[in-house]
Amino acid sequence: MIAANDIVRAVKVIIPLLSEDDTSVMLVHLPRLKERLTHLSACFSNNVQHSIAVKTNPHPAVLEQLVELGYGLEAASLEEVRLAQEAGCPGSKIVFDSPVKTRAEITLVSQEPQMLVNVNSIEELARFPQKVQCTLGIRVNPQVHTGAPEMFDVSKNESKFGVAVIERTKIIEAALSYPVSALHMHSGSQMKDLEVQRGALESLRDLAHEINAREPGKISILDIGGGLPSESMQDETKMKAYGSVVTEVFKKCSFTLVTEFGQWVHAEAGFALSRIEYKLEPNRLFIHLGADFFMRDAYTKPRSFPLSVWNNSGEEYRGEKEAFDLAGPLCFAGDYLAHGALIDVCVQEGDYLVIDHTGANTYGLWSRHCSRSVPSLWAWDGEKMKKWSHRQTINY
Ligand SMILES: Cc1ncc(COP(=O)(O)O)c(C=O)c1O
Repeated sequence: MIAANDIVRAVKVIIPLLSEDDTSVMLVHLPRLKERLTHLSACFSNNVQHSIAVKTNPHPAVLEQLVELGYGLEAASLEEVRLAQEAGCPGSKIVFDSPVKTRAEITLVSQEPQMLVNVNSIEELARFPQKVQCTLGIRVNPQVHTGAPEMFDVSKNESKFGVAVIERTKIIEAALSYPVSALHMHSGSQMKDLEVQRGALESLRDLAHEINAREPGKISILDIGGGLPSESMQDETKMKAYGSVVTEVFKKCSFTLVTEFGQWVHAEAGFALSRIEYKLEPNRLFIHLGADFFMRDAYTKPRSFPLSVWNNSGEEYRGEKEAFDLAGPLCFAGDYLAHGALIDVCVQEGDYLVIDHTGANTYGLWSRHCSRSVPSLWAWDGEKMKKWSHRQTINY
């Protein structure tokens, strides 16, 4: 019996639908996405607003799906704010976190009722009018190391993100002088050490208490960001452990909490297929998805994606495996999806490589290098396959 969150049935359905042009396709696995969101909500108490990071998968139909299920959206640019609005997200569930907001953008968003707008510096606060419709927050750099990979560690002392928590007096004075009612932090992606993160949450909480001691009720919202690595669903997830940490840290507080998860929500809720174009000796396969789709993996340590090989009649190879290098289609030497990946020895030209767990930081990072077309995107609802967008040529 195949579980609803498996990809087997979805792969069997998609392969016969592919045309000659579909050298690769991307898919969203809706049952998995919903399962993960339900788990996320269950790990936190009811007064937590989850605004999912748009950048992680900005496809409009994906955003609509998240909004339909009651989730908010976190935008890193004004363009992402527009995507969130077009997806029907109410302003009260949109968070705007760009570190380089222009004066024109600030004039615009300051009039958006209840949208949470987090400033990246005290200097940015001075660009806001004295009366704002939005909810204004200050991003604080918690100055911790949670074990996030160097490239995604935004909480180092010299980070460009937020006001360092050590600048306590400055933050308190700024919060009291401007119409600020929220504090924000995002410690970094793929954080490993939840005890370090506990310390960061406590320092944010204590800072809010100190401001409220000077002006009662001034800070009512704490946005604690995202940052958990993806993991498979089991009873005792890291997300559950993190939810307990958050509950403990804020147990005697009346703040409204906001989160901004991305990777944890989306990574396992997506997969992709690439036709195998060439099989060359010694054991090298050329495929149609490389650093254009896996941009983030190309500039840091690649994630290990579960791989399987299927023939073009929709049957999975289940024989003896050997180590293969998987070469992407771009014109630079480093464009390999994997080295020494275990793949069925019978693989041949025209088969499909199925790459699982590709839902996060892939589609949204599509690179125009070599001007290759953006593959079509499909959604699997557990029964049927629906095309959400066509294959697109790159426009210059
Ligand atoms: C401010 C902010 N919030 C949330 C996220 C989402 O992080 P993650 O995908 O690690 O949950 C990011 C990622 O870059 C971010 O910069």
